[in-house]
Amino acid sequence: MEPPIGGRVLSRIRFQRCTWDFITTVFYVRGITVTLLSNFVVVEKSDCCRYPAYLLAFINDLDIKNIKQNPMAYLCSLDMLLLSVLMFASVSVFLYRRRSRPVTNWPVFGMAPDLILNAYRVHDFATDLLKQSNGTFMLKGPWFANMDMLVTSDPTNIHYMLSKNFPNYPKGPEFRKIFDILGDGIFNSDHEVWEIQRKTTMSLLKHPDFNSHLEKNIRNKIEKGLLPLLDLISHNQQAIDLQEIFQRFTFDAICALLLDYDPETLSVHLPYNACEKAFTDAEEALLWRHVLPERVWKLQQRFGMGKEKKLTEACKVFDEFIYKCLSRKEEEFGNDGRVEKEETTGLLESLMTSFQGQTGISGDSRRFLKDTILNLMIAGRDTTSTALSWFFYLLAQNPSIESKIRREIENEVGDADWKSLGVKELRGLVYLHGGLCEALRLYPPVALEHKSPYDADVLPSGHAVNENSKIILSFYSMGRMEWIWGKDCMEFKPERWFSEGGKGGVKHEPSYKFTAFHAGPRTCLGKEMGFIQMKMVAIAIIYHYHVEVVEGHMVCPGDSIILQMKYGLKVRLIPIN
Ligand code: HEM
Repeated sequence: MEPPIGGRVLSRIRFQRCTWDFITTVFYVRGITVTLLSNFVVVEKSDCCRYPAYLLAFINDLDIKNIKQNPMAYLCSLDMLLLSVLMFASVSVFLYRRRSRPVTNWPVFGMAPDLILNAYRVHDFATDLLKQSNGTFMLKGPWFANMDMLVTSDPTNIHYMLSKNFPNYPKGPEFRKIFDILGDGIFNSDHEVWEIQRKTTMSLLKHPDFNSHLEKNIRNKIEKGLLPLLDLISHNQQAIDLQEIFQRFTFDAICALLLDYDPETLSVHLPYNACEKAFTDAEEALLWRHVLPERVWKLQQRFGMGKEKKLTEACKVFDEFIYKCLSRKEEEFGNDGRVEKEETTGLLESLMTSFQGQTGISGDSRRFLKDTILNLMIAGRDTTSTALSWFFYLLAQNPSIESKIRREIENEVGDADWKSLGVKELRGLVYLHGGLCEALRLYPPVALEHKSPYDADVLPSGHAVNENSKIILSFYSMGRMEWIWGKDCMEFKPERWFSEGGKGGVKHEPSYKFTAFHAGPRTCLGKEMGFIQMKMVAIAIIYHYHVEVVEGHMVCPGDSIILQMKYGLKVRLIPIN
């Protein structure tokens, strides 16, 4: 996996571009100035100091007196004609250069204008830049905004930061500032608080009974929530937003699993639930905090404007929802809020027991528990629902692959009921597994990650970083690099994941190359849970329906920290006989 262009060649190209930009800008300014002078400027020699434009005209050997006396005649002069041609050429070259090159480093504003103009396609914008710069580039923010960021999609850098030199790359204070709503939760913490969070969460998710509990929970949701709703919709030949259905599914499922409370947002009437909707609002605001200077979003936060207003409201909704569930649970155990049972079965009881006395940085034990739950809810709701949405979108573009996956499921089911496919049987479905991995490669739900070095260091790509550097790891771009995944990297090819030698197994890719689940000591703790959930839902749908995207419906990533679809996924369901 070598980056495509050598550093020296790249510097030469950059130097040529800068020179050409300088020349075109000089002609552009000269042309505009002369045109303005010849048309509008009426100046006296004494005004010389007040009008720099006059001086420019003087330098250009133009006769101001003539312009004043007979401007029309001057316009037709040979010099003017020449200038017009030059101006036209320089404007054309300027526009051409702007179009063919994704970013300009402006004086004072750095690359911020391009970043803001491209905010609606920020991940593709980063991918364009990374493709042209060996997989790592420095994004310059405005000089006053402390927004410079080193963006990388180079697997050697990723491996180095996430695994080899992990202690030097905590999430850092910048991450904590942007993701303040996550409080002391696992996503947001470093060092001891993270270690406590990770150890406790791991012991819950790796508990021998967890998978059977999970299987029961998902099966229940599929049979009582998902299938009745899909049956009704397909019977009425209605179009539905499949992304919304998945979000409701995963929200109900994680609440039931974590809080012992199923809000039943996935039912035929699709009831409104403020907490379920608040996740989307919060995640959009968090992405904008990456794009806007800190002072700007802090000002918006202070005056309750724009996305920040929605984020503040979302936080209130989360608090209300989670504290209510906690109170309900505490009441079950006694009025003083302490867990009385020696042995507990549910996840919430286990969390309450494990975190008794833990206060985190906030110093408030109840808040610590709330933060923990909020983080797990985000982990459980959005990643899986997003991955499922992109998977069904890709299947709709590739009906032959959909048929192959359906055949694989039918073979596995045989004469039995489709519901007989349990966690064990899921492992044999390699086509389905490959399809899901492809969706995760091309559209990783967590599309980027932050890092901030503890001490100054040099990355394997040769880029020097120090304790003030902000580093963005673009997982989205990694899945789209030819030098990482080959020339066919943009194709949806589940076969890419078949083990070599045709033994029917799944191919292993190192986590620093396939980064959808992160890598190193902070690897996703819910990978297995996510795959189980996605496979069970995918089987239930593919076995019963062919999914077709509604004609003309636009599908593109939204401006959110999780790679959701901006306009959802409008589909029709055609029953399979
Ligand atoms: C398709 C499904 C999923 C994907 C793509 C995914 C991806 C990720 C990624 C990229 C991270 C690292 C985030 C960061 O450090 O900023 C992460 C961390 C984590 N994930 Fe997942 N995840 C998925 C499902 C789940 C599920 C269902 C759970 C269970 C609740 C879960 C629990 C966690 C936890 C607890 C962490 C924090 C690990 C740590 O910081 O030590 N994930 N996941």
